[in-house]
Amino acid sequence: MEEVTLNAAENSARKKRLYSAVQPTNALTIGNYIGAIRNMVAMQDEYDCLFAIANMHAITVRQVPAELRKNTLAMLALYMACGLSPERCTLYVQSHVPCHAELAWVLNTFTYVGEMERMTQFKDKSAKHADNINMGLMDYPVLMAADILLYNADVVPVGVDQRQHLEITRDIAVRFNNIYSPTFVVPEGVYPKVGAKVGDLLDPTKKMSKSSENTAGTVFMSDDKDTVIRKFRRAVTDSDSEVRYNPEEKPGVSNLLSIYTAFSGKSIEEAEREFAGRGYGDFKLAVGEVVADRLAPVQKEQARLLADKEYLNSVLKEGAARAYKIASGTLSKVYRKIGFYQL
Ligand code: TYM
Repeated sequence: MEEVTLNAAENSARKKRLYSAVQPTNALTIGNYIGAIRNMVAMQDEYDCLFAIANMHAITVRQVPAELRKNTLAMLALYMACGLSPERCTLYVQSHVPCHAELAWVLNTFTYVGEMERMTQFKDKSAKHADNINMGLMDYPVLMAADILLYNADVVPVGVDQRQHLEITRDIAVRFNNIYSPTFVVPEGVYPKVGAKVGDLLDPTKKMSKSSENTAGTVFMSDDKDTVIRKFRRAVTDSDSEVRYNPEEKPGVSNLLSIYTAFSGKSIEEAEREFAGRGYGDFKLAVGEVVADRLAPVQKEQARLLADKEYLNSVLKEGAARAYKIASGTLSKVYRKIGFYQL
């Protein structure tokens, strides 16, 4: 009982904690930006934030080592170019804090095989990588639970494709807390109102994904203006010509409207009014332009940052030290509760 009171006092004394992570695979898409990074940037002052580069999750599908290394630093530079500041939040690489793997092992013993087999992303990825259905692919959500629970995060901003992983994280936390005593904060997922699932431009009911085979429907954060405009010009719409938000009846147009509002800062209603009576051609061009114009300075800043590897390394070093301090505290508490003999 005493412990619960103490935790509550601690909680009210500190800013609420926020945790999120992105895998450093390929170039990121505007789906990653709209669904996650944009919110991370918006929330960084209100919360005590940690943002990881999830390279341990990335190896659940085969990676080219040199590319994984390069993408890790590129990911950090992109985080910063999008507006995450190492002075205001903790930016670090997941594998630099060994507690993630250690807690994941413990949490594995509180997670059932059946629960993991039911995960939609596991089923999708198993179908896609049928030649490499490794244990890591299946165990992915437990590692994600370890990420979040190590830091006692109150909130986790992610896109809706991560909702199921967030739910299992909550289940594992509650299960552990019930068996022992309150140990983990049970985290809340935060999903954007618009753009929580940005669709592929050619198949808008499907998630825009960095690993799609056909990249014509995927806009990468690294795409130049011509490429962005070309991709939006070819985006599927529908047979009428009304720019109106209705995801069920008009998935293509609604997807474009979400992207437009996310990048322009305008509301859906404002955008609908702006394009009333204008054809889809005009509308698609406007969406392409607003996206390209926002991406250009981000790309420039990312390149500038990438030129100073020493500085980026220093950010990661400091980030890992800050993260380790918190994570190792949680881990030793867990080890004590489960009965690991400690020296
Ligand atoms: P990842 O790297 O696949 O994606 C990073 C973030 O981008 C969001 N996202 C999208 N949002 C909207 N529309 C889309 N088309 C779209 N595609 C991706 C994802 O929801 C995610 O928020 N398992 C995570 C990384 C992770 C993590 C964590 C996240 C590891 N540990 C702890 C939060 C907390 C992943 O693979 O994200």
